[in-house]
Amino acid sequence: MKKLLAPSILAADFANLQRDVEMINKSEADWFHIDIMDGVFVPNISFGMPVLKAINQHANKFIDVHLMIVNPDQYFKTFAELGANMLTVHLEACTHLHRSLQSIKNEGMQAGVALNPHTNIQLLKDVIEDIDMVCLMSVNPGFGGQHFIENTYQKVRELKELIQLKNAKTKIEIDGGVTNQNAKQLIDAGADVLVAGSYVFKAQNPTQTIQDLKKIMNS
Ligand code: DX5
Ligand code: ZN
Repeated sequence: MKKLLAPSILAADFANLQRDVEMINKSEADWFHIDIMDGVFVPNISFGMPVLKAINQHANKFIDVHLMIVNPDQYFKTFAELGANMLTVHLEACTHLHRSLQSIKNEGMQAGVALNPHTNIQLLKDVIEDIDMVCLMSVNPGFGGQHFIENTYQKVRELKELIQLKNAKTKIEIDGGVTNQNAKQLIDAGADVLVAGSYVFKAQNPTQTIQDLKKIMNS
């Protein structure tokens, strides 16, 4: 299966958001990764519904929404209406994860679960078949531009084993500190989707950087 690249809009130039969305549209990137932070689950506030609505008016690719918020369930319907294709909640923010996953799917979206760097993979053992994608945080969530946590490789391998053991179709996404230095190793460990924020948007030529990353990922 082709490996997917999801540039994170968190690192875009918000004063030129339409320009950056069009850049992703025309590039070899596969998805838009949208980080929603509430200042409670993580110590930062990014942007909310009006900004997602504006992005969706211009974006022509799959929209992958990463919710770093407490009590996410109350917003599922709204995110579906705003065009989210994948909606990812944090395991650490969901008391009734199984119910949350069913609710996301009932709204017509794919359901993702994100794990903080300290969270054990085995906590997903009884629910993995219900998850369309697991997002492994390779930095502590809340900010772009942080250093990749090396222990992630081991977590990807353990998660891949669990998915295979259960014969599940779950995708593995890696989020945080992804660059050309770790992309290939992450794919080799079992990753299907890589998120890249600063590495793409702070590059001299983001379109070329996307093309180069995609090449590394699928070589
Ligand atoms: C971090 C976010 C990430 C972030 C990645 O909390 O979930 O998606 O935007 O940014 P980089 O690639 O700069 O680490
Ligand atoms: Zn994210």
